[in-house]
Amino acid sequence: MKFGAPHRHFRITDSTNARARELVEAGAPHGTVVTAAEQTAGRGRQGRTWTAPPDKALLYSAILRPLDKRHLLLPLAAPLAVCNAAEELNPDIECRVKWPNDIWVDGRKLAGVLIEAKPQNGWAVIGIGLNLSISSSEFPPDLRDTAISLLGVLEGGRGESRRELLANASPPRLPPTPLTATAVLNRHLASWVEAKPKEILAEWRARDALKGRQISWDGGSGVADGIEDSGDLVVVAAGGDRVVLGAGEVHLRL
Ligand code: BTN
Repeated sequence: MKFGAPHRHFRITDSTNARARELVEAGAPHGTVVTAAEQTAGRGRQGRTWTAPPDKALLYSAILRPLDKRHLLLPLAAPLAVCNAAEELNPDIECRVKWPNDIWVDGRKLAGVLIEAKPQNGWAVIGIGLNLSISSSEFPPDLRDTAISLLGVLEGGRGESRRELLANASPPRLPPTPLTATAVLNRHLASWVEAKPKEILAEWRARDALKGRQISWDGGSGVADGIEDSGDLVVVAAGGDRVVLGAGEVHLRL
């Protein structure tokens, strides 16, 4: 199941997920990808917004159709595709996954995934925001300590321009452009969307950033203990009870 054709790129739009939803509802085929240099109303999970300076993040939405029972673990598979893409774009990093949909590097958020689906109509829009070259001072103050971009990883967060990076680096190393990142992500997404549940679960468990960490949510707290085969999160509460959390239901705090 390939991604990237057709590809619609917007210089500016409200949300690539919103554009992709319009396209899928109008009959756009599987594999359609929408990207933008800038979003004015980027959507995050649980009603949050997603912001990025123009041209400094990959803002990407892909149409998956038909969506069927082979894709039950899509919420786990998509972040794994982002991990592989980010590691191909910068071989010096190791990505981890923070249940349910975040991609972390060095304990900071590099990327997030927002899947919007209508299973009854047989489609999903896979929305991905991947920080490419946002310097730490360009993140909103509340995210400065918790967000990172591929540039930050490459250059220790100093935030040079592409020109400065080219001049200073030896051998030269530039952050990838959104177009390059799109092509790399298209390839990894195609392979993870078709992966078997066993492979998805094994890779997720190998990259699990939460396992063993103390977490809390509105209904309680405990130590994260990996994921079920369904993709739900297992938490061992203080009294030893095992609690199973579904991604739609909870907002985790670390
Ligand atoms: C999250 O971590 O909360 C998910 C963020 C997903 C953001 C991306 S950016 C491209 C696509 N279009 C949107 O409006 N949202 C997703």
